[in-house]
Amino acid sequence: MTATVVLGLAWGDEGKGRVCDALASDADYVSRYSGGNNAGHTVRVGREEFKLNLVPSGIVREDVVCTIGNGVVVNPEALAGEVQALEERGLSVRDRLKVDGRAHLIMPYHIALDSHREIALGEARIGTTNRGIGPAYEDKVARYGIRVQDISDEGILKTKLKAALREKNAIFENVYGEEPYDVGELASRLLEFEEFIAPMISDTGTLLREGLENRRKVLLEGGQATLLDNDHGTYPFVTSSNPTVGGAIVGSGIPTRYLEYVVGVTKAYTTRVGDGPMPTELFDETAETIREVGREYGTATGRSRRVGWLDLPAVKWAAALNGITHLAITLLDVLSAVEKINVCVGYEIDGERFDGYPMHQTDLHHARPVYRELPGWGEDITGCRMRVDLPREAREFVEFVEAEIGAPLCMISVGPEREQAIVERIAV
Ligand code: GDP
Ligand code: IMO
Ligand code: MG
Repeated sequence: MTATVVLGLAWGDEGKGRVCDALASDADYVSRYSGGNNAGHTVRVGREEFKLNLVPSGIVREDVVCTIGNGVVVNPEALAGEVQALEERGLSVRDRLKVDGRAHLIMPYHIALDSHREIALGEARIGTTNRGIGPAYEDKVARYGIRVQDISDEGILKTKLKAALREKNAIFENVYGEEPYDVGELASRLLEFEEFIAPMISDTGTLLREGLENRRKVLLEGGQATLLDNDHGTYPFVTSSNPTVGGAIVGSGIPTRYLEYVVGVTKAYTTRVGDGPMPTELFDETAETIREVGREYGTATGRSRRVGWLDLPAVKWAAALNGITHLAITLLDVLSAVEKINVCVGYEIDGERFDGYPMHQTDLHHARPVYRELPGWGEDITGCRMRVDLPREAREFVEFVEAEIGAPLCMISVGPEREQAIVERIAV
């Protein structure tokens, strides 16, 4: 009947997987709508930890159907590996996972290009996940892309590969001094996955729309996050898709009228992997403490995450941009380890105070955070299950953020495990 989007309000890894898992207890479908296996979403159930890259987090709940929407870019080898690993852990996957035939494939040459470009950029690199995401989306827009459905037709596959490789092979040979790709070889490499992928290929937009018409509940699981959005993020230090709410509509194929809730997820502080501006970044002992206590190492790539205080103007702007109806705050328990907490409430740019979020990228690079200091609580909060259980300082912290953002909290996460949360309003 209704669709709920769960999306990140900063630079990714806000705990979207964990929030989706909680909301999925009430959902019939969980769908990824953007990005690819650059995402890494963690779900903890008891002692089990699932790290999902392409497969939606709903897969952990046996009664949920999962879809990979048209807006996603799919590396067939990575998908096969992930599905197999999940099935080896006892989950039923292939009977519940549908992959949209309109989604685009990530090819080996996309990954090679991603890596060559990053090296060529040197100091100006984006810090991508090296999964071929950018080049795959470029081909989609350029109309040189290979789609999931093409895997079932060898003739079409070869024709499209030939078109896609005409310019690219010239680049590989002449710019990067590499061997050109062979159409026949690439086609047979892809066709090896045909038997595996073909049974899952589906028109997932129609599936979701029919479900919604039949009063089913759909959860749209964002990959990446608002400040990494290709249009709205800290360009060029962004990803190549639209993780924001508009991307959820385009990338899943459902009309806006079904969309009822938009849950924006933020950590109680800020992290970023990859390069680009991050005004509240810390380089001191507090950063080390947060990184160690919060285990701030990338889920997809294992890279150490940059850590900083909560950047309220940025998160506020992201919340408004997506029109969030609910807010989820995660990793609040990590702040138990710090004595005094800062929250950025504005910036100083070229000597002037600015309380909004700057449009101009240069301003963002020069922005010095203006902080409001809040007292820490210094005690374990992982056992809290209601807002009133929280120490007064922790309650004041979340209430300050909630009031500033202007959207009601639906979840306060106080630990990585499924039960370690204060759930106030289940949004789906
Ligand atoms: P996503 O990409 O937004 O789904 O987030 P990731 O899974 O990449 O990163 C979030 C990390 O924080 C994961 O390791 C989670 O297990 C962990 N996590 C999520 N919520 C909490 C929380 O409330 N407290 C703590 N300590 N860890 C959490
Ligand atoms: P989840 O869904 C954090 C970042 C990369 C890099 C930039 C571009 O787990 O939150 P790309 O490979 O997409 O071309 O890299 O985006 N990035 C993420 N950072 N979480 C993610 O996903 C990310 N997906 C991409 O680090 O800065
Ligand atoms: Mg992640």
